[in-house]
Amino acid sequence: MSQTSPATPAAMLSVRGVKTFYGNIMALKGVDVEVNRGEIVTLIGSNGAGKSTLMMTIFGQPRAREGQILYEGRDITRMPTHEIAQLKIAQSPEGRRIFPRMTVYENLQMGASVDGFAHFDEDLLKVFTLFPRLKERISQRGGTLSGGEQQMLAIGRALMSRPRLLMLDEPSLGLAPLIVRQIFDAIRELNRNEGLTVFLVEQNAFHALKLAHRGYVLVNGVVTLAGEGRELLERPEVRAAYLEGGRH
Ligand SMILES: Nc1ncnc2c1ncn2[C@@H]1O[C@H](COP(=O)(O)OP(=O)(O)O)[C@@H](O)[C@H]1O
Ligand SMILES: [Mg+2]
Repeated sequence: MSQTSPATPAAMLSVRGVKTFYGNIMALKGVDVEVNRGEIVTLIGSNGAGKSTLMMTIFGQPRAREGQILYEGRDITRMPTHEIAQLKIAQSPEGRRIFPRMTVYENLQMGASVDGFAHFDEDLLKVFTLFPRLKERISQRGGTLSGGEQQMLAIGRALMSRPRLLMLDEPSLGLAPLIVRQIFDAIRELNRNEGLTVFLVEQNAFHALKLAHRGYVLVNGVVTLAGEGRELLERPEVRAAYLEGGRH
């Protein structure tokens, strides 16, 4: 497979025809998704649709059995996971997975270790500006933070590695509406002010589609709809499946 691509590709991340299996069960059935530089792109879908599987497949765990994943023009489909992490893709996985026994400060140090510590103070300041709550809790252990604070820490830790692409798996999961708004405002701010590219996986279709430039709907391992975020919000099939009766 060729790794050299002289022309800068339009898409920063390009997922093409990806099929991922758990044993004999096909969880992704040929998924195509593109994320362009500077965009917020969301992937929405119900529980079990395959959202997390797609995010994990991009990191090579599990591996795509068919199809291709390109990042900044390089084929990363079979690249080892630790090498993918070096490519400035940062991930905040579902369920946050911060280090519960480590303090807020130590968790943020762990994130910075991917990039070395040359910009540590500057990046720490940025994270604390974005989430002042974390600064107030700097010496507190991760496991004793509230759900919302843990989510802020997970995002902050990802940011400490100076990513060009930030991938978030259900940051709103289990959080109160006010906290969800704070988290989503922070994502918008990062995108607007820093030009950070964001791939956001969400069940919370309303907030995600309002925030995102573009969105994809995943149903049972298949992308059934794609379009601009606001446009998808108006689609009757999206409203019926993901919004009606939901909390707006
Ligand atoms: N480790 C696993 N082993 C077997 N099946 C899995 C595993 N993880 C997820 N699945 C299955 O793959 C499908 C997609 O799951 P997942 O990607 O977690 O969906 P989502 O994140 O959209 O809720 C589901 O049917 C789920 O049961
Ligand atoms: Mg999931």
